[in-house]
This record gives sequence, C-alpha cells and structure tokens, in this order.
Amino acid sequence: MRMKVCQQLLSRAFSHRVNSYAVRRTTSDIPATGSPKAGRWSSAQSASFCSSSAEDRKARPSMLKHLSSKIRSTGPVSVSEYMKEVLTNPVTGYYVRKNMLGADGDFITSPEISQVFGELLGVWIVSEWMGAGRPEQLQLVELGPGRGSLAADILRVFSQLQSVVGGASVSVHLVEVSPALSRLQAETLTGKRNMEASSEDDPVYRQGETAARVSVSWYRRLEDVPAAFSIFVAHEFFDALPVHKFQRTEKGWREVLVDIEPADPDRLRFVVAPTPTLASSTLVQADERRDHVEVCAEGGVIVQQLARRIEEEGGAALIADYGHDGTGTDTLRGFKGHQLHDVLSTPGSADLTADVDFSFLRRMAGGGVACLGPVTQRMFLKNMGIDVRMQVLLRNCSDPSTRKQLISSYDMLTNPSKMGERFHFFSLLHPSRLAVPKKPQGLKLEKKSPAPLPVAGFTELGF
Ligand SMILES: C[S@@+](CC[C@H](N)C(=O)[O-])C[C@H]1O[C@@H](n2cnc3c(N)ncnc32)[C@H](O)[C@@H]1O
Repeated sequence: MRMKVCQQLLSRAFSHRVNSYAVRRTTSDIPATGSPKAGRWSSAQSASFCSSSAEDRKARPSMLKHLSSKIRSTGPVSVSEYMKEVLTNPVTGYYVRKNMLGADGDFITSPEISQVFGELLGVWIVSEWMGAGRPEQLQLVELGPGRGSLAADILRVFSQLQSVVGGASVSVHLVEVSPALSRLQAETLTGKRNMEASSEDDPVYRQGETAARVSVSWYRRLEDVPAAFSIFVAHEFFDALPVHKFQRTEKGWREVLVDIEPADPDRLRFVVAPTPTLASSTLVQADERRDHVEVCAEGGVIVQQLARRIEEEGGAALIADYGHDGTGTDTLRGFKGHQLHDVLSTPGSADLTADVDFSFLRRMAGGGVACLGPVTQRMFLKNMGIDVRMQVLLRNCSDPSTRKQLISSYDMLTNPSKMGERFHFFSLLHPSRLAVPKKPQGLKLEKKSPAPLPVAGFTELGF
C-alpha cells in the first residue's frame, strides 16, 4: 500500500513538468576527479578560482591573529573550539563571510548538482507527512540550507502535489548561521519578498514569503523554531559542526589541542593535552576500541533536540551526509578551491569538515524515536525512484547538452565510486511510524504478524 503511495506521489508530482529540468551545472562543472574520501566534491574548474578574494585575504590574518591571541592568553584550544571559531565566528568565520558552494566556491553538493535530488526528498517528505496522518500543520525545517536550492526544489514538489498537500498549512523554517548565505537563500526562495528583523535580538532574523505565499523564517538556532509537526532536513550540515579529537595514549585518553608553533608564531600545530580535559573524560565511550576518535558534541545536542521535538510534536528528520557508523578515526580535513587544504593553514579561508559518526547520532537520539539507516545515497535515491524519474526526463529531452548533463548528474549522485556510496541517509521517526498496525478487533490472529509500514527511501519500493 505504502509502495503504491510513493509511486503515485512520484508520478503525480512530475507528470505535468517532465520537460522542466533546469541545468544547474554544465557537464564540465561536474567534478571528474574529486576524491570520494574527501567527502566534499571538487569542480573541474578549480584552477580558475583558487586565488583568494580581497575579503579572504583580509579575513585570514585577522582570524589567525584572533586565534593566536586567544591561545596566548588561555592556552591551547580544543579542536572543537578551533573549528567553531574558524567556521562560525560572527565576524570572520568561513561560513559567515562567503558563499562557498558551487563551481566558483570551494565545493559542490548534491542539491546543487541536480534538482532531481531535492525533488525526491520532497516526495519523501510528503510521503512521511501522509504516513503521520496528514497533520494540519507541516513545517519544513532545514538546517544549514546553503543556497536554498534544496528547499526550493522541495517546495516545487509541494506545489505539484497541491491536491495532496493543499489541505495543510505549510511553512518553511531555515536554521542558518550565515547572514551572507541567508540573503542568498532569501533571493532563491522569495525573490524580494523578505526583510531582515529590526532588532538583532529577534530570534527570527529574517522573514519572507514565496511567490506561492508560503512563509519562510530564518533562525540562528534550532531551539527558536516554533514547536509543531515538522519534517527536519539536514544535508551536509552535521559534517560542518565542530568535533573534539581524542587520542589513546599510555596514560589513557587525551584530547588533541591546537597550539602556536614555537618556532614560527604565524603557524599553528596540533598538540596532545598532557592531562585529561573535561571533554576527554566525558565524551569517549568506556568501551571505545579505536585509537583516534572524533566526537561532535554539538551534533549530539542537535540530534537530542530533534528527537525530543519529534517525540513530542510528531514529524521526522532526514539527515544526509558523508560519514561512518562508528569506525572512522582521523577524518577532519580542510577544503578550499575544490582541493584538500591543511586544516591549520590560513584559518578562515577554507572549509573544515569531519565525517559524521552515525552510530553517535543514533546513541544521542535515545529511545524515544526510531532511527533508520544509514543507507547509501545510491540506495536511498534508487528506492525513491530516481531511475524512473531519469527515464521520463530523458525521454522528454531532445537537447543533447541537457541530456548529457542529466546523465552525468545521475552518475555523480548514484555511482558507488562517486557520491553514491560515500554519502548516506539516516532518519529519525516518531515511534508510531514504525509500529505494527493494530488488527481490527474480532479478526482471527494470523500466524505471521503484519509488517510495519515501510518508509520510503529506506525500503525497496520496487519501481
Ligand atoms: C556544507 S554547507 C551545506 C549547504 C547545503 N545544505 C547543501 O547541501 O548545499 C553547510 C551549511 O550549514 C550552515 N551552518 C554551518 N554551521 C552552522 C551552525 N552551527 N548553525 C547553523 N547553520 C550552520 C552553513 O552556513 C551552510 O549553509
């Protein structure tokens, strides 16, 4: 039954617009050489934009100066503190200052490669909203929305499925730390129909409306998003959150810290804390078997918040990222101009990222919600019907360059050696969503108990 629902949603969502495929990247933009281990994806055009902007050059020395004076006054900082400063310092932070996404940025993401990615996530959201009994309110909450492309593609599916979703009051809530990116998201989603809050203290720092009159609000923190039935989406968000790094030593677990290089005060280096820190005493599992561990405490807190909200208000969360299930060790890396970049060099000029530990997220979610996955991006997209969607698009596309782009974006998203197996989908669901349906009273018990309703994307739906 649920299989049929998902298939019907797909064919309804796309039947009227089989030709409306917008090329976001040309084939030459799509990376030919990105290393799957790197997680972030590079563009073939990298050579043309490795030089840094004037803004970049100004930010780097000030970030290094800021970090050095901090270290000089209070001692070496944790890797987590370093990452947080470098990425989200309100003035000079990497995410706060620039648009890093796309061919002329530092890396490229799935929603930027093809609109089909966001469309399939849109179908997933509608199917989960239906699975929850079609609540009157539907909040789409995206964490770290980048350029706003994913939310725009999801909203287009909602409008294609107006006959299904039309009864719900839909609103969009974006959790974004970067004012620069929030302006870009506002442009993508609302055109000029948005304005900044008059007070800096307002938890909603920007508000707007799409052409279809869907309200869009921007927040710095998840806790400011109103409580209501919500579907949360986080694509390449958790990998951008700061991680603590720990190392097993003869004396026990020790935290890795960032210090000034004694021989060159303009350079930073990693050191191992001589004694336990609060983090090394509390964040490493007693039965940990690895010798090097990264723990994203901030990601753990966010997952706890998501789990509590889903348990109390209903809804689901879909987390898509690169990562591992408790096996990764040293994964922290820098990315700049579509190339790997030394984590400690020119802080603030490059992206910093670490693989997501899905086993940690599962542990942090606790027992109040059901967790599904991680499953590979390839499996998720195939289960969501990407092949059928591509066939329809290709059948209706006569322009050779668009066809070429369609095929290469499909390959990029699903090829196991590209993004297909490097990226994973993980979901938190209200426990009722996976509950075995109750049998109507009076029916004789069957020998086999009925299976829980399948969740699209995580179950093969037989397209
Ligand atoms: C790697 S980008 C991914 C963008 C987008 N989801 C995509 O896949 O194209 C990370 C996004 O998360 C935002 N971000 C990073 N740290 C954040 C934080 N602590 N709170 C809110 N947003 C954050 C960044 O500004 C950016 O929009």
